[in-house]
Amino acid sequence: MNYVIGADLGTSALKLLLVDRCGEIVKTVSKSYPVQYPQAGWSEQNPEEWWAAFVAGVRQLVQGIDASQIQGIGVGGQMHGLVILDEGDTVIRPAILWNDGRTEKETAYLNEVVGKKRLSELTANIAFAGFTAPKLLWLKNNEPQHFEKISKIMLPKDYINYKLTGVHCTDYSDASGMLLLDVKNKCWSKEMLRICSVSETQLPRLFESYAPVGHLQPDVADVLGLSPNVTVVAGAGDNAAAAIGTGTVSNGRCNISLGTSGTVFISSNEFAVDNYNALHSFCHASGGYHLMACILSAASCNKWFCEDILETEDYKAEESAITDDDLGRNTVFFLPYLMGERSPINDTDARATFIGMRMDTKRKDMLLAVLEGVAFAIRDNFEIAKDQGINITCSSLCGGGAKSALWQTILCNVLNVDITLLQTEQGPGYGAAMLTMVGCGEFADVKDSVNAFVKLKKTITPDDEIAARYEAQYGKFKNIYPTLKHLFKTIK
Ligand code: XUL
Repeated sequence: MNYVIGADLGTSALKLLLVDRCGEIVKTVSKSYPVQYPQAGWSEQNPEEWWAAFVAGVRQLVQGIDASQIQGIGVGGQMHGLVILDEGDTVIRPAILWNDGRTEKETAYLNEVVGKKRLSELTANIAFAGFTAPKLLWLKNNEPQHFEKISKIMLPKDYINYKLTGVHCTDYSDASGMLLLDVKNKCWSKEMLRICSVSETQLPRLFESYAPVGHLQPDVADVLGLSPNVTVVAGAGDNAAAAIGTGTVSNGRCNISLGTSGTVFISSNEFAVDNYNALHSFCHASGGYHLMACILSAASCNKWFCEDILETEDYKAEESAITDDDLGRNTVFFLPYLMGERSPINDTDARATFIGMRMDTKRKDMLLAVLEGVAFAIRDNFEIAKDQGINITCSSLCGGGAKSALWQTILCNVLNVDITLLQTEQGPGYGAAMLTMVGCGEFADVKDSVNAFVKLKKTITPDDEIAARYEAQYGKFKNIYPTLKHLFKTIK
């Protein structure tokens, strides 16, 4: 084997990596696609656009490469999205994405009528609006004509794998976010399927993330310019894939991802659920488990503020106005709830807010507030983990937002933990490539691939003074949402 392809099917783009057997990224290709927001708080994408991006992207990636040297493909993908196909394998409606908040009623039904306790017994989790099960209930209640036509239910990256291999499959890490999986026992929960009026025949077959699920269908191999012998592995949810790519596999290790969403991912060897289900309890792509918290808007807040509000794509120039002296002294605060919020507040009505502007407030203060607001929202989740006895002292960092040196410093000091940066920034795609190598027999297991490939670039440590200032600032931030919470319900 000489190469594998690792893919990250993200929300804003598909990122493809060609990785050689030494773990070097030989080539990358990125193809972006739009998100549709058909109503406030809704978000959708057309799975056929993902596939078109995949085909165009792979063709570009393998140009000039001896395609017979490519042995495997693995995809890490945005989680929870509902993709439904009819009997003829046609996509019935656009996928409803992980950050879509339309299922408020169905989520409340699951948490209050079925009950959080029962949900937790069945799936190790409670319902959040973005999870897949409430979306199935929403579809049944609101689009029965589509619900009746469902022949296959799958998650975003599983659609790619289905097109590649013809195998209707998923992996345990991604399946965990459907609220249909008995996470502890790694099987579909019959009771949850009954609650959502779906049957096991509509659901994909379950695999470990590194398990081969099949080979390329000959016509697809032709279109992609690859050999039909290419092995496709089950892949993983993007956060689990990123955790592999950042080496977050041993007990208690933490990774923070600053992508469209922001996540705190804590790896654990054993299955565990916290008392309040405040953290998601999911299977890990390594074969173990993990706890996770997810904020719905992270790097997307920065993108929104710079590109849509300031109308610039020059993030660096904007950030260059901010100095270390400004850190922890801002009078402006920002709640990053552009799409409502999942962890820890589970509130689809929450909205983004700037507060504290004065006549001397400058553009840079507002940008700083955005970067800080995301860091404070991540800190909210660190506090939840702390309440559960999980004390994080060090975390790796990945995702588009991790490229900003300023944001790294802010996060490090707001959380008051060491932040490690790795030589490869490509979390999910790199993790997917590593899973593929395990599936192709290059490594005995995921830990072996981590030992071989994941290399530290640098560690950032908190600065006592800045961290102390941020401690005081966080004290102010954490009062803002509880004060505004009821107001948000009146302005939707
Ligand atoms: C995790 C989650 C997001 C998406 C983003 O629960 O919803 O991180 O996976 O792609």
